Amino acid sequence: MKILGIETSCDETAAAVVEDGIRILSNEVASQVEIHARYGGIVPEVASRQHILAIIPVIKAALAKAGLDFEGLDGIAVTVGPGLAGSLLVGASVAKALAFSSGLPLAGLNHLEGHIYANWLGRTEEGCQTHPEPEFPLVCLIVSGGHSDLVLMKGHGDYVVLGRTRDDAAGEAFDKAARILGLGYPGGPAIERAAQKGVASIKLPRANLKGTSDFSFSGVKTALLRLVEGGRLTSAADGAASFQAAVVDVLVGKTVAVAKERRAKQILLAGGVASNSWLRQKLAQSSSLPVLIPEPNLCTDNAAMVAACGYFHFQAKKRDALNLDVIPGLKLA
Ligand code: KG4
Ligand code: ZN
Repeated sequence: MKILGIETSCDETAAAVVEDGIRILSNEVASQVEIHARYGGIVPEVASRQHILAIIPVIKAALAKAGLDFEGLDGIAVTVGPGLAGSLLVGASVAKALAFSSGLPLAGLNHLEGHIYANWLGRTEEGCQTHPEPEFPLVCLIVSGGHSDLVLMKGHGDYVVLGRTRDDAAGEAFDKAARILGLGYPGGPAIERAAQKGVASIKLPRANLKGTSDFSFSGVKTALLRLVEGGRLTSAADGAASFQAAVVDVLVGKTVAVAKERRAKQILLAGGVASNSWLRQKLAQSSSLPVLIPEPNLCTDNAAMVAACGYFHFQAKKRDALNLDVIPGLKLA
C-alpha cells in the first residue's frame, strides 16, 4: 500500500511516498528556515504564503522520485493539527482537492502521531527497514517545538498522555536559550553545535516535579538568563552545554522512570529535539529497555512520518470525508 503524506503544520512544506508504513519511496522537504531566521522566529503569515508557493512543486517532486502518479497510490494522508492554522490549511486544502480529483481515500492526522510513526520508517537511504519494529506497550517521548509529551501506546492509534510540559516545550526552551546566549535561530541545532565546544560546568536547576511525569523548563531558562544578565557567564559554549545537559537529564530521567512503572517493552523517541545527539546518547545509555530513535532527518518535521501513520490509519479502516477541517489545537488523546 503506497501512501502520499503531506505536512505543512509549521515551517516545512513536505511531501513523501511511503510503502506499507515502513519503506520510504520519496521524502521531500522544502524548508523555510532561512526566511524565518531573518525575523528570529516563525512568522505565521509568511509561513502560509511560502507553503502556497512550495506545496505543488514539493508534491510533484515526491511523486516523481517515487516514480508514481496518482494511479499508483492507495491513499493520501495529511496533518490537520496541531499547528499554525494558516499553514495547516494549505496542506489540508491541497490534500482534499487531490483526494476529490483522484478518488483516493483521505486521512487527516495528528502531527504528534506522525512524529511517533517516524519510528516505523526504515533507516537506510534505500528505505528498507533495518531496525526492530516497535513493540507494544511502549512509552514514547515526543519532544518538539510545541510539545514535550510522554505517551503510553498499547497499540496502533491508542494513546494515553502520561505527562506533558507545564510551560515551555523542550524545543521552545532550546530556542529561547539560544536567543539568550546569542546563538541565533533555529536554537536547537545552534545549542547542540555550541555545546560540543563547551563543558557542562555550570549548575543549572532541574525541575523534577516529584510524583508526576510532567516537565517544566522555564526555571532552567530563567536561571540561564539571570547568569547572562548578571555578566556571570563567561563562555556561551559552556552555557549551551550546561543547558543541554540540564534539559536532557530531566527528559531522560522521567522517560526511563515512567517506562519502568508502566512495564513498557520499549522506549521510543520522537520530534525535532530527538535529533539532538546528546539526548539520543543519554537515553540509550540510561535505559535497560530497547530505545528506538528515528534517523535525525526523520525526527524533524517531514511527510514520510505522516504517510507512515496514514498507512496504519487506513489499515484500521479509518478514513476521513472531504469536509475534513484543520484543528490548530488538536490533542493526542
Ligand atoms: O518537530 P519539529 O521539527 O517541529 C515541531 O513540530 O515543532 O521540532 C522543532 C524543534 C525546534 O524547537 C528546534 O529548535 C528543535 O526541535 N530541534 C533541536 C534540534 N534540532 C531541532 N533541539 C535540540 N537539538 C537539536 N539538534
Ligand atoms: Zn513537528
